[in-house]
Amino acid sequence: MGKFITFEGGEGAGKSTQVELLKKRLLSEFGGEVLVTREPGGSELAEKIRDLILAKRPAASETEFLLFAAARVEHIAETIAPALKSGKWVICDRFFDSSRVYQGMLGGVCSQFIEMVERHTVRPYIPDLTIILDVPAELSMERARVRGALSRYDAATKQEHEVLRQGFLDIASREPQRCVVIDGSRNVEAVSKDVFEAVKSRILKGT
Ligand SMILES: Nc1ncnc2c1ncn2[C@@H]1O[C@H](COP(=O)(O)OP(=O)(O)OP(=O)(O)O)[C@@H](O)[C@H]1O
Ligand SMILES: [Mg+2]
Repeated sequence: MGKFITFEGGEGAGKSTQVELLKKRLLSEFGGEVLVTREPGGSELAEKIRDLILAKRPAASETEFLLFAAARVEHIAETIAPALKSGKWVICDRFFDSSRVYQGMLGGVCSQFIEMVERHTVRPYIPDLTIILDVPAELSMERARVRGALSRYDAATKQEHEVLRQGFLDIASREPQRCVVIDGSRNVEAVSKDVFEAVKSRILKGT
């Protein structure tokens, strides 16, 4: 089996930037094959579900959560599981922690319901390592502003950014074996160095 790494964190935390850098680093240091994918999406049907979610926001957070969950099952079945089985590294830009935080903590979907759906959809494809890029709300908002083109999923208020940030930090403290928190407010190279160190110490050690 290959190793499965996910990146999580609020908007503008640097996930997409670090996903690409980690891919390059893994290829140059270890060779092999690296599959980069993202949520929501990552398979033909999952991309259609993504378009559906983006086109019209469901009235209920539960609908939104279930659509994301459905897209995730397809993403795992079509893309993630086959890649891992063939020994590839898989790096995914957002995964189920984003559902817990966006639809759960921000949207109010019951956490027991979320856990139950996770149990029946994600397992056994729990990431070997989840990298949580942590940035203060102000910086998240500033980077999103500079980047432009806000999607309707982007948190609007500082308070929402704080909820997201705290949500990811809470997940990391509850699941320290799976998660590592990295300070994403520093320059790209410093963050990337810590990301690679985390991969080496958490995943490569003992394999
Ligand atoms: N360490 C950094 N220092 C300064 N700017 C950064 C850093 N990392 C990323 N950026 C810039 O911040 C913006 C957001 O970065 P990126 O797209 O990687 O974040 P993201 O977490 O994927 O965001 P989103 O959740 O919106 O997809 C980009 O313009 C990127 O160039
Ligand atoms: Mg991104």
